[in-house]
Amino acid sequence: MKAIAAINTANRAPCSQLLRASLPHPGFGTAEMHSDRSRSSGMKSLIVDTGAGGSSPVTNSAASTGPVTHPYLPSASTIGGLPSDSPTPHDRPTVLVVDFGAQYAQLIARRVRELHVYSEIVPHDLTAAEIAARRPAAIILSGGPKSVHVEGAPALDPEIYGLGVPVFGICYGAQLIAQQLGGTVGRGLRGEYGRATVTCTGSASLFPDDVPRVHDVWMSHFDAITEAPPGFVATASTPDAPVAALENDDARIWGVQFHPEVVHSPYGMAVLRRFLYDLADLQPSWQMASVIDEQVAAIRARVGNERAICALSGGVDSSVAAALVHKAIGSQLTCVYVDTGLMRKGESAQIVERYRRHMNLELIHVEAGPRYFEALKGITEPEAKRKTIGELFIRIFEEHTGGLTDAKFLVQGTLYPDLIESGGKDGTAAVIKSHHNVGGLPEDMSLELIEPLRDLFKDEVRALGTELGLPDEIVWRQPFPGPGLAVRIIGEVTPEKVATLQEADAIVRAEIAAAGLERDIWQAFAVLPDIRSVGVMGDERTYGHPIIIRAVTSDDAMTADWARLPYDLLERMSQRIINEVSGVNRVAYDITSKPPGTIEWE
Ligand code: XMP
Repeated sequence: MKAIAAINTANRAPCSQLLRASLPHPGFGTAEMHSDRSRSSGMKSLIVDTGAGGSSPVTNSAASTGPVTHPYLPSASTIGGLPSDSPTPHDRPTVLVVDFGAQYAQLIARRVRELHVYSEIVPHDLTAAEIAARRPAAIILSGGPKSVHVEGAPALDPEIYGLGVPVFGICYGAQLIAQQLGGTVGRGLRGEYGRATVTCTGSASLFPDDVPRVHDVWMSHFDAITEAPPGFVATASTPDAPVAALENDDARIWGVQFHPEVVHSPYGMAVLRRFLYDLADLQPSWQMASVIDEQVAAIRARVGNERAICALSGGVDSSVAAALVHKAIGSQLTCVYVDTGLMRKGESAQIVERYRRHMNLELIHVEAGPRYFEALKGITEPEAKRKTIGELFIRIFEEHTGGLTDAKFLVQGTLYPDLIESGGKDGTAAVIKSHHNVGGLPEDMSLELIEPLRDLFKDEVRALGTELGLPDEIVWRQPFPGPGLAVRIIGEVTPEKVATLQEADAIVRAEIAAAGLERDIWQAFAVLPDIRSVGVMGDERTYGHPIIIRAVTSDDAMTADWARLPYDLLERMSQRIINEVSGVNRVAYDITSKPPGTIEWE
């Protein structure tokens, strides 16, 4: 949300944040949400005079004629990297992705992990000493929404360049390298948004031999580097980015103006691979199997002979967390599934069956539907519903775990994206978001948290679940809100309305599955609004409820686009819902993206 606001208010189209809107949604084309704002904003274009006929790209400002010294570049004593006796928080080599406010910092970190190198996102205001203390194997500077020229633009402690750790700048990160190390970043250039053709202009370390000299990349920048810093070589250009890649092999600092992390840069992964494996000398050694071994050992050591409890929701995160902890401590873990009566059709029975039979978990199944309906009587306001559901959940959870007096630990499926958020100072500091699946657990709970997934992204959690042997129905379950169908029933929640919605929702999901679209769609469900409309069925006039179908594509639910479902699929859903669900006489399809809508209706 913050990112989109930035697009709307900034006088320049921000680097990287436009990209989110244009990532492809498999099977449904590309959602182009951004306009070519910058081009229509009356900005003057500026021709860069390269002194070589005007149109040729800037090549290098100081070709490699021996090491160039700069106060911030590594010296002979640091060039080999950090001293090996520095403290090390992990024993696994870690790439630090420095966040300059791009939501794409997360995507960069994921791409690095896809290449089997562990990565973490850190705020840009860490000092060189703080960075050094983390003993990174490499550093990647992310893109960001600002111009390096504006006051207060996020910067990097320039002493970081001197640590001798390999550095790779992307977009804003590359511009920062240029600016901080004595190059030039042109202001108010024409900018490039979307596909651009890059030409490798020199012998480049960043581009392996199998990458064509001329290829497509994805750009999203306004300013552009016009002169590489002393000691650097410009090795690629586009018509509007004279220095699309800059390199200093001696200092082990490289940068690209384009976005190698997005799928629209077809050779982007080759460039990242090159940086990690060849330039930073990293091994592709980070695997899910090693995460399991590491976590199991850590959990065992921490829990010892104590007991742990876990609130299961049926979702992938809590299920994988429980499975992992169960693998570590077996029957010392007790899970509680609070069945709110607000789940989808047949879901609670399936969940209990899977947890007990398939995962062999010690499970307390609390059938609390009647209590929820009683508590929700007369409540129509969305936040009041959520609060009621959350508070009741806490009460029930406490009632059923109160007997486990020796429990010392609470297991939660908190993920890495739950813990990092672009917010706080400069919009980039890592802040902790309180994120619980159902309403929030009490703060005064005297249990220690075990969060075995806190380093992982969602797709990694899925891979981990599969590695742990969980069935696809758990691993690939679509997200489902903690308050359940209550936030999809507008107005008062009653057992009858839940039953109606469950039937319609089951049809929507069955048809999505039959069309083979389950994994392409982030969420597909039915909504029951609090209105009625006139219809005719047979010779009868009807006055029934509509059902609204909602199906969205998304990467992480922060933004979403309505899914371009085929008309015949929509027609099948509509016919089946009207024929099979009593009291429904009309079906509508929600064609609102997020923003401005949210995914859920309440
Ligand atoms: P919205 O509706 O805000 O939803 O676009 C974004 C994502 O979050 C899920 N969601 C919830 N999940 N408790 C949850 O555990 C909630 O109260 C809640 N509300 C929304 C929603 O399904 C979507 O995936």
